[in-house]
Amino acid sequence: MSKNGSASFPTGFVWGAASSAYQIEGGWDADGKGPSVWDLYSHDHVPAGWTGLIGGVTTPGNVYMNHTGDTGCDHYHRFREDVGLMKQMGLKAYRFSISWPRVTPTDERGVNTKGLDFYSELVDELLNAGITPYVTLFHWDLPLWAYRRGGWLNREVSDWFAVYAAVVAKRLGDRVSNWMTLNEPHIFLGPGLHEGLQTSNARKGHAERILTAHHALMCHGRGAIELRANAKLPAVVGWAPIGRCKVPATNDPRDVEAAKIATHAVTSKDYWNNAWLGDPVVLGHYPEDGLKLYHDDLKNAGDGGEALRAVNSAADLKLINQKLDFYGINVYDAERIKMGDKGPEKVDFPPGHPQNALRWFVEPDSLYYGPLWLYEKYKVPIYVTENGMTNLDWVDTDGRVRDPQRIDYTRRYLRSLRRAIADGADIRGYFHWSVMDNFEWQCGYRERFGLIHVDYATGERTLKDSAHWYRTVIDANGATI
Ligand code: BGC
Repeated sequence: MSKNGSASFPTGFVWGAASSAYQIEGGWDADGKGPSVWDLYSHDHVPAGWTGLIGGVTTPGNVYMNHTGDTGCDHYHRFREDVGLMKQMGLKAYRFSISWPRVTPTDERGVNTKGLDFYSELVDELLNAGITPYVTLFHWDLPLWAYRRGGWLNREVSDWFAVYAAVVAKRLGDRVSNWMTLNEPHIFLGPGLHEGLQTSNARKGHAERILTAHHALMCHGRGAIELRANAKLPAVVGWAPIGRCKVPATNDPRDVEAAKIATHAVTSKDYWNNAWLGDPVVLGHYPEDGLKLYHDDLKNAGDGGEALRAVNSAADLKLINQKLDFYGINVYDAERIKMGDKGPEKVDFPPGHPQNALRWFVEPDSLYYGPLWLYEKYKVPIYVTENGMTNLDWVDTDGRVRDPQRIDYTRRYLRSLRRAIADGADIRGYFHWSVMDNFEWQCGYRERFGLIHVDYATGERTLKDSAHWYRTVIDANGATI
């Protein structure tokens, strides 16, 4: 116990930070990398002859001030320096993603060895620094060749993904044992594909939404199989969906019950719930309420019954329902819920409630109820695969980056997480988002989520106060928070 009465986290708790390929690497066409949907979306990087893009239109202004990930944080060239900084921060683990089009740039078959070399060297550098790699296979940068062939709408996407997973597992699986298949299908399918907010202006019907999600889940299943079959070390396989958190508006047991019901329910025709994607992966079937709510749309879709057949296919569900070693959750904010006359109801946050720079509400309770209830339902060990905040940080005249809000935010969220552990949830680790400031998708470099400040003009890195603070947390295994 520390002097303020707070206890340590469990022995062996994994303290880490996270990033993703497109957001930090740069080197968009270095050493044989092929283009991804994000190269297309942010910068019109379409090679000559790549016609026939489905619904993909690039318009200037897709991304804030036309920022692109072309150079990113130049991590592709500066990864040794970055790993050195991670070591200085005392990180025990680092979660990063692999750029699929860096590995298979032109189609599912042609492997770019140089692209794989980069990740292999990164893994070696991490291991030499005593930092355990946690590798995500897919964090949104779909190869353009896959998009052009129908992307998530094409059932073959899971064949392509299987080949990719096998290639990566063969090359890195002698040193990497912790894997995640997909990061947040909720977003790369929702805002990414169907809502026209990222990577595509295609707005699709509901049945198509359901079908793309089904195909993404098949990628998860096929990916898990290939990781286990091809990695030399036993593969510990999880995934990293959004942990869509609903917290009670008050401590009244009826509100607690309402928030719990809402956490597990499918009530709308979008991806903003846990169960539609989580249940097939962990339980091997789609949730009853969702099947009921979506039934008429699927029946009348005019797709020859493809989506309806897919969600009822025992063979597909068996494939999707691979053993899951851990359930990753990305948690930033939450909805407040109370019990209304007709069931759970959303409640607004009060005026003046704390927000991050993107105006997302700060809700530390989300790291209590979110993991606790998901663990209770799925009984799979949990990792917090992302949590953090964007803040208006800059380098002060004395060279320091003071970010007290990030420290306070993280302390509060970690206290909630510790309570969830105390109340029985098997939570194995925490990855702060992000290890460094980076390309925040359609917001470009405007948002700063990092523990490390990046000056994009010079590439200079500066550990923020929060990075120094996080080191003290890690050294004390959380007892200081
Ligand atoms: C994503 C990250 C993103 C972060 C902050 C998550 O949804 O996985 O790529 O930068 O949230 O928006």
